[in-house]
Amino acid sequence: MCAGMQRGRFISLEGGEGAGKSTQARRLAERLGADGREVVLTREPGGSPGAEAIRGLLVEGEADRWSAVSETLLMYAARRDHIERLIEPALERGAWVICDRFLDSTRAYQGAAGGAPMALIEALELDVVGAVTPDLTLILDMPVEAGLARAAGRAGAEGRFESKGHGFHERLRAAFLHIAEREPERCAVLSAEGDLDAVAERIWAVVAARLEVAGG
Ligand code: TMP
Repeated sequence: MCAGMQRGRFISLEGGEGAGKSTQARRLAERLGADGREVVLTREPGGSPGAEAIRGLLVEGEADRWSAVSETLLMYAARRDHIERLIEPALERGAWVICDRFLDSTRAYQGAAGGAPMALIEALELDVVGAVTPDLTLILDMPVEAGLARAAGRAGAEGRFESKGHGFHERLRAAFLHIAEREPERCAVLSAEGDLDAVAERIWAVVAARLEVAGG
């Protein structure tokens, strides 16, 4: 094999509040890294210093602090910085990037649940994300009540989105499932219910089936 020449792979994890994405992203990164592969574990909004600064504006404060359109633009300012400074350089040098949320969260939170025009979001995807679309998107699905109950235990100052109403979270869940239906090659829906090990095994089975993980 031609060392260092192959572009890395990009995996995103998505879902509503309290689905356990962050824990699962970390476990997946550890497992992929165990073979000696370079793995970059990151998150959105955030992942680069500039994007982390923007994150504070988005996840703190009152639920109505921003309109859905303003939120979309802030998310995309953060995303662009994250792509330019962290994601694209990592993929270029052959690293695997595991991202806790990515563009589907904007479609679901700001678009489907928040009411920002899909035409705006699609235009931003095309110009700002471009070719840096995930190779695989794992959508962790669970009933809204169970997710919010889990999330309530650890919100802290970052509870802005969790404080939106029940209807918002139902629309979110439906939106993620709809994305997966429309893009079955990129997306896989997994149940986030059950213990952490069981969910981690479900995720690993999908990653192994869809991406070349053996003999790396
Ligand atoms: P987290 O709780 O998974 O770290 O994500 C922070 C919050 O940001 C979460 O409530 C979802 C929200 N979010 C959006 O609304 N749109 C986006 O594009 C992203 C990446 C996150």
